[in-house]
Amino acid sequence: MSTVLPRPGAAPATRNGTAAAPRPARVRPAARRRGLTAGIFGIGSALPERVVTNRDLEQVLDTSDEWIVRRTGIRERRRLGEGELLAPLATQACADALADAGRTADEVDVVLVSTVTPDRVTPGLAPEIARALGATGASAVDLSAACAGFLYALDHAAALVESGRAGVVLVCAAEALSRIVDHTDRSTAVLFGDGVGAVVVAGGDLDLGLAGFVLGADGEQADLLYADAEARVLRMQGQEVYRHAVRRMSAATAEALQRAGLTTDDVDLFVAHQANRRIIDAVAAELHVPSEKVVLDVHRAANTSSASIPLALHQAERDGLLKPGMTVALAAFGAGFVWGAGVVAWKERVHACA
Ligand code: ACO
Repeated sequence: MSTVLPRPGAAPATRNGTAAAPRPARVRPAARRRGLTAGIFGIGSALPERVVTNRDLEQVLDTSDEWIVRRTGIRERRRLGEGELLAPLATQACADALADAGRTADEVDVVLVSTVTPDRVTPGLAPEIARALGATGASAVDLSAACAGFLYALDHAAALVESGRAGVVLVCAAEALSRIVDHTDRSTAVLFGDGVGAVVVAGGDLDLGLAGFVLGADGEQADLLYADAEARVLRMQGQEVYRHAVRRMSAATAEALQRAGLTTDDVDLFVAHQANRRIIDAVAAELHVPSEKVVLDVHRAANTSSASIPLALHQAERDGLLKPGMTVALAAFGAGFVWGAGVVAWKERVHACA
């Protein structure tokens, strides 16, 4: 007879065999060793050339520019052309991120790509991006965590760097939501866009780096937002998703700040997943982040799933809002449900060796 051991942290079985209440989520210690802290040192992004405005959608759907702007803040989105692939766009964003960080492809140890819409079912995007970049010594893998995928990938990258398993990790979020949207359904077709963002994660003797990361998942809510393998079309109960998104992102961001030893007053910019302006404003209000510190990019790129945070970060930098050394709070929420939050000191200066 085999004995099944409980997983660490699993709810202990009661005498009658039913599971007891689950233990609270494990909290990671805030203190980390100096000299092994991961941070972001470069960024790049790319959007497809084809612009689809709200006015364009008025021609094919029973919708209006006024409704879309008032309910979501979205004015336009980008979409890949017929047959156009994500990999070249992603490669461009990654090359730009490496150049921005002053790194070369042969220094990259891991290429980590967040996507729910890769060019092929298999292989994933990451090996192709690594090949196209010339990162021949790198391992390369895709990660699927919907709109929270960039934060999941950042946390994984930081863990690889801080454990010494990797020196330089290229984190890329590459999405083509237009591939899984029902273009005849006005309640979802207007919301999504395509795009790519990438950052370079490496280690140094940093004061903050990538800190306080909180990741969560609740598979009970999967049916509120999903795309089936067969139909490959996104279905969403918008109002329910909205409610959960505000609650989870607010709580996760507050916890991330606490884990990082910071308060809302320490935050220079707040960059949340760009799904809907009203969701971002509601989370910021809950956290008492003033509107001038809230980055909005949803009007330009719509909801690009996991790519939305790096796209917003890059645009904020180009607009002069995001500067080296700033403390940025990040939050995301998506299908799963999965969510995450964390804090980053933007392109923080590495302390010189003594
Ligand atoms: N144009 C015009 N009218 C519309 C449109 C449209 N594009 N879409 C819906 N409507 C109508 C509805 O039919 C409804 O009409 P009715 O009152 O006659 O029935 C009315 O507008 C109101 O619809 P609601 O769904 O109640 O509108 P709401 O204010 O909730 O906004 C929205 C809908 C934008 C989808 C919002 O609920 C939302 O943003 N939800 C969260 C989405 C999200 O965050 N997704 C993130 C995860 S995505 C991922 O992980 C891949």
